[in-house]
Amino acid sequence: MPAFARDPGTAAYYEQRAAEYDEWYASLGRFAARPRPGWAAEVDELCRFVHALPPARTLDVACGSGFLTQHLRGYVVAVDQSPAMVALAQRRLPDGVALRGDALDLPFADDSFDRVFTGHFYGHLPPAERAAFLAEARRVARELVVVDTALRPGGTPEQQQERILNDGSRHHVFKRFLTADQLAAEIGGQPVLTGDWFVAAAASR
Ligand SMILES: C[S@@+](CC[C@H](N)C(=O)[O-])C[C@H]1O[C@@H](n2cnc3c(N)ncnc32)[C@H](O)[C@@H]1O
Repeated sequence: MPAFARDPGTAAYYEQRAAEYDEWYASLGRFAARPRPGWAAEVDELCRFVHALPPARTLDVACGSGFLTQHLRGYVVAVDQSPAMVALAQRRLPDGVALRGDALDLPFADDSFDRVFTGHFYGHLPPAERAAFLAEARRVARELVVVDTALRPGGTPEQQQERILNDGSRHHVFKRFLTADQLAAEIGGQPVLTGDWFVAAAASR
C-alpha cells in the first residue's frame, strides 16, 4: 500500500505545486480543459459550507494554500508540511496562524482546539496513515470535520494517480474518492455535505 503523509516524493510534489495549487479550484491552467459540469458553483457552495461552520478554535490540518481555511471563523490555526503552502495560507489568515507541522504527529497538546478541520487530505491516506490521523485529530479536538472529493457515478474509488505540473514534471499520488456516507462511517460521524464534487462529514468524540 502506498504512503502519502509520510512519502517524501508526495511532500516534494506539494511543495512544488503550491504556487499553482489554486488552479484546481479556479479551473485555470491544466484544469481549464477538464469537463467538470457544475464545478464552479459547487466550489462556491463548499466555501459557504466552511463559512457556515460555527466559530470555534479550529485547527485546519494539511491546509494547503489556505483556500478553504480563509472561510473558517473563530480562532484559526493552520498546519501543513509544505513551507510554500504555509506561506500562502498565512497570507490568507491575517488574524490566524499558519505553521509547518505533521498531520500524523500534531505539535499541540491534548484538547488544544474545539475542532479539527481538514480538506482533501483524509482521502489521500492509506489505512495506517488514516488511523494515525484520526487518532491525532481526536486527541487535539472534540470535533472533526472532513471535506473530501466525491465519488462520482461510475468513478474509480481508489487510484494511484499521475499528476502533471505546469513545468511538465510527473508525480504519483494515492487518492480515494468517497461518498458522504462512506466518509461519515469511516470517521464515526454524520454526512454534512453531499455534493456532486465535494462531500463532508462531521464527528464528535
Ligand atoms: C490536496 S492538498 C489539500 C489542501 C487543502 N486542505 C485543500 O483542501 O485545498 C493536500 C495537502 O496535504 C499536505 N500534507 C501532506 N502530508 C502532510 C503531513 N504529513 N502533514 C501535514 N500536511 C501534509 C500537503 O502539503 C498538501 O498541502
